[in-house]
Amino acid sequence: MKRTVNKENWWENAVAYQIYPRSFQDTNGDGIGDLQGIIKRLPYLSELGVDIIWICPIYSSPNDDNGYDISDYQNIQKEYGTMEDFDELLNKAHGLNIRVIMDLVINHTSSAHPWFIESRSSRVNPKRDWYIWKDGKDNKEPNNWESIFGGSAWEYDEHTKQYFLHVFGKTMPDINWENEQVKKAVFDMVCWWLDKGIDGFRVDAISHIKKPDFEDMPNPKKKRYVPSFEKHMNQPGIIKLLKELKDNAFSKYNIFTVAEANGVRTEEIDDWVSQENGIFDSLFQFDHLNLWNVEVEKEKIPLKKMKQALSKWQKVTKKDGNVALVMENHDLTRSINRFGSPDKYWKESAKCLAMMFFFQKGVPFIYQGQEIGMLNADYTSHLDFRDEPPLVSYEKRIKKGMSKEESFWILKNTTRDNSRTPMQWDDSRHSGFTTGSPWMKVNQNYNWLNVKGQEQDEYSILNFYKKIIKLRKSTPAFVYGKYKLILKDNEQIYAYTREYEGECYLILCNVSNQYSKSELPFDISKGELLLGNYKKIDTKENILKPYECRAYKLT
Ligand code: GLC
Ligand code: CA
Repeated sequence: MKRTVNKENWWENAVAYQIYPRSFQDTNGDGIGDLQGIIKRLPYLSELGVDIIWICPIYSSPNDDNGYDISDYQNIQKEYGTMEDFDELLNKAHGLNIRVIMDLVINHTSSAHPWFIESRSSRVNPKRDWYIWKDGKDNKEPNNWESIFGGSAWEYDEHTKQYFLHVFGKTMPDINWENEQVKKAVFDMVCWWLDKGIDGFRVDAISHIKKPDFEDMPNPKKKRYVPSFEKHMNQPGIIKLLKELKDNAFSKYNIFTVAEANGVRTEEIDDWVSQENGIFDSLFQFDHLNLWNVEVEKEKIPLKKMKQALSKWQKVTKKDGNVALVMENHDLTRSINRFGSPDKYWKESAKCLAMMFFFQKGVPFIYQGQEIGMLNADYTSHLDFRDEPPLVSYEKRIKKGMSKEESFWILKNTTRDNSRTPMQWDDSRHSGFTTGSPWMKVNQNYNWLNVKGQEQDEYSILNFYKKIIKLRKSTPAFVYGKYKLILKDNEQIYAYTREYEGECYLILCNVSNQYSKSELPFDISKGELLLGNYKKIDTKENILKPYECRAYKLT
């Protein structure tokens, strides 16, 4: 099944689509999305115009973190189907010119992985050192690190009387990347998938694999556990480990790899994603998405900050390197709720945000449902939510004295479940996602917000996405052109140009619910309007309506 691709960097002008399989399409009525469901929807994805699908983890897993806790890398989770289903999916996707990239979770495994079961069986087991085991200190954990999912980053093992490290959940022990054998086992597994003919990986939490030391975090506030990112996120020595991953696996194949790269700085772009030295082809950076902390600020973030956060990555990838362009994923709330107008200007703001990010330099990723403007979960009780870490925080806040209402408000505005509600395919019961009872409730707005309805509406968000995908793919300037931010200090308008081989394109987005006047350095009345989101536009006055966006070819 191995395929060879001639063109170098086949992924450069690609558009990617992220699938959260659990919530995409169920075909056997158990209320859980499955591989046959993805197969069923391949024609939809092909019609949309995507070139790559990234499938979130579908490997065997106890599902404590919906598959990010893997117990067998080389098997398919039963509820998703079989390896035959996967092979069928891969073949059919390739038949439609859609490449498939898998989620690669190698910072940790599940505690149910045979490697870990052996490792925990005794202190002298040959796989003991495949994970990170330490003695306690004064009858407590080896240090004061807090896990990203809350609580201590260490879990005590009664049987061998030592603690193991878990940067994420307590059933997700971190692999010891200093051990040669476990690395070899990981690289072999990576090559096994690549030999099967998949087209690359989205590499999960990869900036966490290096832990240079296990000292306590400074603790001036005398907290029991302290957030410990400075100890395990993008730490010195990581590049050496990543090079081994590249040399022993990635570099042998013509694939596309994109790293989830929390904590990586623009100065480090060369090591991470340059053509020559880069470990990966692209990376997810979250600077623009981390700006808004709803727990602290109820107001949405100023647009200027967003422009700065995105533009600094555009700047460093000007000549070389590549970032993934992303507004949503399975760990975030929906972008319209975050940055747009979920009620009055739902449609306008969905399109405006789409245009804003889509024509920048990089590989655009669309997260399932984003292309129809899906919104945050509309649940009214915390019992409807499924993702555990935010629920634990919800209870904790109440215990500390916060009112239930306020704690629920924070939960609702932060939980990862917001993007994990079932895909809204049509207006039949459970939105066409399942004929059974969905593992997570469908948003009630599926009655009017669904794929089927939007396919029939020329001006729908879905059809707008189809247009921007086409436009991007047929315009080299959007792939290779120079990015220039204009109207830098404007608080409402995000505007930029892309210039390539004598052609110049202008993207103009009024990311606000106000009318905004733009003082542009060009005469756009002479430009060619390629796409907009209002039927009637006023080019003379340069007034942009609420959430109006336009793409021009300038002359
Ligand atoms: C990444 C994934 C997230 C998961 C975590 C641990 O951040 O996107 O969903 O919980 O890694 O694997
Ligand atoms: Ca199913």
